[in-house]
Amino acid sequence: MNILVTGSRGQLGSELQELQAANGAHRYYFTDLPEFDITSADAVLNFCREHEIGAIVNCAAYTAVDKAESDVVTAFRVNRDGPAVLANVSRACNALLLHISTDYVFDGLGCRPYREEDQAVPCGVYGQSKWEGEEAIRRIAPSYMIFRTSWLYSAYGQNFVKTMLRLGRERESIGVVFDQVGSPTWAADLASAIVSILDRFDPCTTYGETYHYSNEGVCSWYDFAREIMHAGGLSCRVKPIETADYPMPAKRPHFSVLNKRKVRDAWDFEIPHWHDSLLRMLDSVTPDAR
Ligand SMILES: NC(=O)c1ccc[n+]([C@@H]2O[C@H](COP(=O)([O-])OP(=O)(O)OC[C@H]3O[C@@H](n4cnc5c(N)ncnc54)[C@H](OP(=O)(O)O)[C@@H]3O)[C@@H](O)[C@H]2O)c1
Repeated sequence: MNILVTGSRGQLGSELQELQAANGAHRYYFTDLPEFDITSADAVLNFCREHEIGAIVNCAAYTAVDKAESDVVTAFRVNRDGPAVLANVSRACNALLLHISTDYVFDGLGCRPYREEDQAVPCGVYGQSKWEGEEAIRRIAPSYMIFRTSWLYSAYGQNFVKTMLRLGRERESIGVVFDQVGSPTWAADLASAIVSILDRFDPCTTYGETYHYSNEGVCSWYDFAREIMHAGGLSCRVKPIETADYPMPAKRPHFSVLNKRKVRDAWDFEIPHWHDSLLRMLDSVTPDAR
């Protein structure tokens, strides 16, 4: 099968490219800006027709959560209108659409891990734009899977782990919020799950599923930062601070743990614990640091 991956120079897209280099069951087409814009309807349709695309994996997104608060038009164009374009193309080409969404579709006021069917109350412009992208897909795409994930990090791109490693080398101490709790996700694990599903899904079946996928286990950003410093061999002290002490333009969910039972049961996944995945990620980027 021919598979289109959009946003392929981002964290998740890069991990998919790396996996693909090692295992080639399908033919993947990796695309990104500026040559391939998911909001350019005609160009996307022409590409998919020309390459007989049977599945689209949408890793493209506007992920600058704070910038989105003042750049509302672009956030909605990429996160709502882009998925709608891909959903229309998936309809025209009879292709599966596999889309990535976020824990920010929830307001984080819950106190038990969020299930797929829980009421969405999006957090900020980013969360609202991603939620409307999900809804467009549910309305339009004949066959889709939506994966909500959280706290994504990777050796590629900018993310919390890489920021902590940098700050840990530059500073003696750092304050990190302890009152936001969730589950980190190594993008390489999510990429493996996606490839595993693409290797096993039945093109004759119509899918209409939303799944939650993060690494197993729960922590605060403070706990996560401590483990990054420790595992990275850095002596920088991590001090717990409250969200109110670190004001940011966008509101963050205080509790964004996702319940992953559905994806585990449906696809027989064993999802790695966040701590094990952090160690594997750090080994891959800084083998001498530990
Ligand atoms: N990062 C997180 O912590 C996190 C958490 C939960 C869910 N997610 C979701 O997980 C998915 C993957 O996230 P990620 O961290 O891998 O994102 P990322 O690193 O920001 O990558 C997104 C990619 O999409 C590209 N892109 C932006 N607008 C586009 C457009 N109009 N057409 C085509 N490509 C476009 C970006 O290019 P430019 O860099 O040139 O803009 C970038 O290469 C996203 O759906 C995101 O919402 C992320």
